[in-house]
Amino acid sequence: MMWVAERNGNVAGFLIGRSVAEEFEILNMAVAGEQRRLGIGSKLLESAVVFSHKTGIARVYLEVRASNEPAIALYKRHGFTECGRRARYYRDPVEDALLLSLSLA
Ligand SMILES: CC(C)(COP(=O)(O)OP(=O)(O)OC[C@H]1O[C@@H](n2cnc3c(N)ncnc32)[C@H](O)[C@@H]1OP(=O)(O)O)[C@@H](O)C(=O)NCCC(=O)NCCS
Repeated sequence: MMWVAERNGNVAGFLIGRSVAEEFEILNMAVAGEQRRLGIGSKLLESAVVFSHKTGIARVYLEVRASNEPAIALYKRHGFTECGRRARYYRDPVEDALLLSLSLA
């Protein structure tokens, strides 16, 4: 699944995810640098959560670099909580991943 945000006729952001049984995994999302802090990431995330809720998904989850404060702040603001950590999960640079999830049940 993919959601695309447009602003003034241009692509401003996207969110990609997939359903796996009763879970929805957010694989990636990004908002164009000059369009950040306008609520676009929130809208994309809300769209994915609403879709998940309507399709009977029990839990939305994702992995994020442990240092990615903007993304972690966005997810936590939308009710996601930390549920795990994968040591040295990312490369270039090597970094832990935080697992965040939102229960819809
Ligand atoms: C993370 C990202 C998608 C957020 O998109 P956005 O459109 O700027 O997010 P929003 O405007 O909806 O922000 C909603 C809230 O998230 C939090 N937030 C977002 N960016 C933040 C930042 N740089 N610092 C602190 N909090 C931040 C704030 O609580 C914000 O609300 P506020 O603006 O009222 O304070 C964007 O910064 C981005 O594309 N980053 C690079 C790619 C990335 O890291 N993707 C995530 C991969 S898991």
